[in-house]
Amino acid sequence: MNCTPDTSPLHSIARTLTVALGQRDHYTRAHSDRVVQLAAGLGYHIGLSQEEIELLSLGAQFHDIGKIGIPDRVLHKQASFEEDEWACMKQHAEIGERIILAIDNDKASTVAKTVRHHHEHFDGSGYPDQLSGTDIPLYARIISLTDSYDAMIDTRAYQRARSHGVVMGILEQESGIKHDPDLLHAFTSAIEKSSLRGKDA
Ligand SMILES: [Fe+2]
Repeated sequence: MNCTPDTSPLHSIARTLTVALGQRDHYTRAHSDRVVQLAAGLGYHIGLSQEEIELLSLGAQFHDIGKIGIPDRVLHKQASFEEDEWACMKQHAEIGERIILAIDNDKASTVAKTVRHHHEHFDGSGYPDQLSGTDIPLYARIISLTDSYDAMIDTRAYQRARSHGVVMGILEQESGIKHDPDLLHAFTSAIEKSSLRGKDA
């Protein structure tokens, strides 16, 4: 593994945006760091190349960068959302795409596409474009799955941590609905090797 820090302009911008996100929303920054690790682990498991893992990791790092543009009253709300608040929160996918597209780099369009589509569902019921199946970019499907796993395994103010088995059961129920069945199958193996695997009950 190459341990030399990448000093390319894209990675410099990436680090800057990561710090900015952490200042705005510490939880999302920490969650995104874990999603990078989970997504890269799944990427390795399914045989992606080093270059593909790099693009996937950037998409994972910035999947929720658009939350920078969501007002505090929605971003930090601890109770259930009203309909108009959901509509507002959903905009983070397209806001994130616009932020990443502003980076003048040939890899930015791939990362921006990943960010835009990370809330699409396998059955076409997601947002913002209601894409379905493999029309959803692969990196976005990987991030949707690993994002869901981390969100459910983590303890938050309004949610007790669930066990690994319970979370995998929920993901299984969502197979073919929210998540890509083939990727979920691969994730079931890949997560066993991850330091981020949740605890058993
Ligand atoms: Fe998101």
